[in-house]
Amino acid sequence: MTNYQLGIFNEEGNIFNVSEFEVTSSDVSTIKKAIRKAVKPVDETIEIVVSFGKTLLEKISPNHLPDKLKSFETIKGKNGHEMPSNQSDLYFRIIGGDASLVLDQTIKIQEALDGISEVVLSENGFKYKDCRDLTGFVDGSANPKEEKKYLAALIPEGEKGEGGTYVFHQKWIHNLQKFNELPVGVQEKVIGRTKVDSIELEGDDMPVDSHVSRTDAKHDGVAMKIWRRSFPFGSAKEKGLMFITYTCDPFRVDIQLDRMLGNTEDGHSDQIMNYSTAVSGAYSFAPSTLELATILED
Ligand code: HEM
Repeated sequence: MTNYQLGIFNEEGNIFNVSEFEVTSSDVSTIKKAIRKAVKPVDETIEIVVSFGKTLLEKISPNHLPDKLKSFETIKGKNGHEMPSNQSDLYFRIIGGDASLVLDQTIKIQEALDGISEVVLSENGFKYKDCRDLTGFVDGSANPKEEKKYLAALIPEGEKGEGGTYVFHQKWIHNLQKFNELPVGVQEKVIGRTKVDSIELEGDDMPVDSHVSRTDAKHDGVAMKIWRRSFPFGSAKEKGLMFITYTCDPFRVDIQLDRMLGNTEDGHSDQIMNYSTAVSGAYSFAPSTLELATILED
């Protein structure tokens, strides 16, 4: 399968934007025309991943609704944490190497959709040091490598939406000061990896409630692998992580979220949630380029 949207697997880019829109127009032809305009790259170095929330896809192209697409609903954790939904209609992730061009593309998308939508969320981010989250830990170490990333991310042949991917966006705001007050050894127990060189903790050193323990999940013997492309963002106001993942089955993400929230049998929640708060959450579907062209046809 080679007709996936290229930005999904882009590992070169270091400047990013995610923008999310609620479509207010009911005119299908106008909506499609606006999206066609929005996804034209402003430069050949820019890649865009466009994805659709369930309600919008049902409206503009119901035949192309993949079976497992659903709207994300707020999940309450057994131990008092919560993951809120901001489920909406249209999702763009822009990847580039030049902040000016990423901004030009962000504005182009916003202007193309002006009048038919409202902006729900728009977050700029960047590659921080050697691919680290703002906590200082490398993010992405256990991402599936080479061919395995395609298996983790892409909807398999024979399923509706084949060659496309289910997308999950979730904005997290860190309490960095609180995290940084912890001695490094304790931070490592929160994450489940060493800080400097990102080596996974082993045996008794790995707590059951570390982030790695909660997200390295199996179901019926199958590893629930996902392909993560999150990016950090930060200013004097807010600091955090725009968590982005692509998966062949949203069930894999659901399981990880439940394990983070303490909603699985063992009842442990992820220590990371004591230092970071989820403030948004949404599922969408990024069709293959072939299917995208059909969806956007008049
Ligand atoms: C505050 C938000 C988050 C932060 C700062 C964060 C950071 C990290 C870090 C530092 C690692 C270890 C290195 C690596 O393998 O990438 C990691 C691993 C991982 N995270 Fe997160 N993450 C966050 C949220 C999430 C969420 C919401 C999910 C799932 C929906 C998730 C899924 C994973 C997975 C699958 C791994 C790899 C586990 C393994 O197999 O070893 N993360 N994350």
